[in-house]
Amino acid sequence: MNENNGTLYGIGVGPGDPELIPLKSVRILKEVDTVFAASSSKNQYSLAVRIAQNHIPESTPIRMLDFPMTKDREETEEAWLRHARSIIEYLESGKNAAFITLGDSTTYSTYGYILKNVRKLAPHLKIETIPGITSYQASSARLNIPLTEGEESLFVTSGVKGGDHLRSLHPKPENVVFLKAYKNAGDICNALEEGGYLENSVGICSCGLEDEEIIRDVREFRKRPPEYWTIIIGKKNKI
Ligand SMILES: C[S@@+](CC[C@H](N)C(=O)[O-])C[C@H]1O[C@@H](n2cnc3c(N)ncnc32)[C@H](O)[C@@H]1O
Repeated sequence: MNENNGTLYGIGVGPGDPELIPLKSVRILKEVDTVFAASSSKNQYSLAVRIAQNHIPESTPIRMLDFPMTKDREETEEAWLRHARSIIEYLESGKNAAFITLGDSTTYSTYGYILKNVRKLAPHLKIETIPGITSYQASSARLNIPLTEGEESLFVTSGVKGGDHLRSLHPKPENVVFLKAYKNAGDICNALEEGGYLENSVGICSCGLEDEEIIRDVREFRKRPPEYWTIIIGKKNKI
């Protein structure tokens, strides 16, 4: 490891409330030379930047890395590689950088792809990943409900394929969490009903943000698919 190279810090800034960022991440954000964040190639907006803004000194440059919103694997991988290379070049100039991401840095996060590519292309560089609070931890806390108790298990999944992940499980876990529940929330609701979770299911949109909404009856999602920032928590046992 070359002492003159900078370090990459992967930082999860939590899902909304700017106070839900670890003290360690707050310190690192004040110390690094540049902050990187992902944005859509259509605009330069990043919710992670908005959440962390107060912890980033005004003099620290924020570099947005645009990721195409496409299902084309080749195009996406090309973007990960391109961005990993620019981060590597930056670290090799001797400067430290943070890559910030929403919620936890290792949970369904763009940082995961950056991390893997930087490790592969530049194994000599130092990387430190700092965990963040996930959207489902913040959601269960916001709802004042336990996520798991005793010997129960918890299944955390993406809702992009609707309720099929849950349907395929035998036996079924006591607790389930669907992230990316937006477009297929209606089918997720059906799978929760089939699995016996419906009565104790709850949806939360934009947890910790100004437009936060709690949906106590997730059947509403059959009529009105929610926006992207939505979590559905389903429990077999009474909430
Ligand atoms: C790409 S994943 C990011 C997950 C994030 N790294 C985490 O630790 O929770 C995006 C999904 O996270 C969930 N999510 C993130 N922030 C949220 C929030 N404030 N309120 C509700 N859901 C949120 C939504 O399900 C959204 O579709």
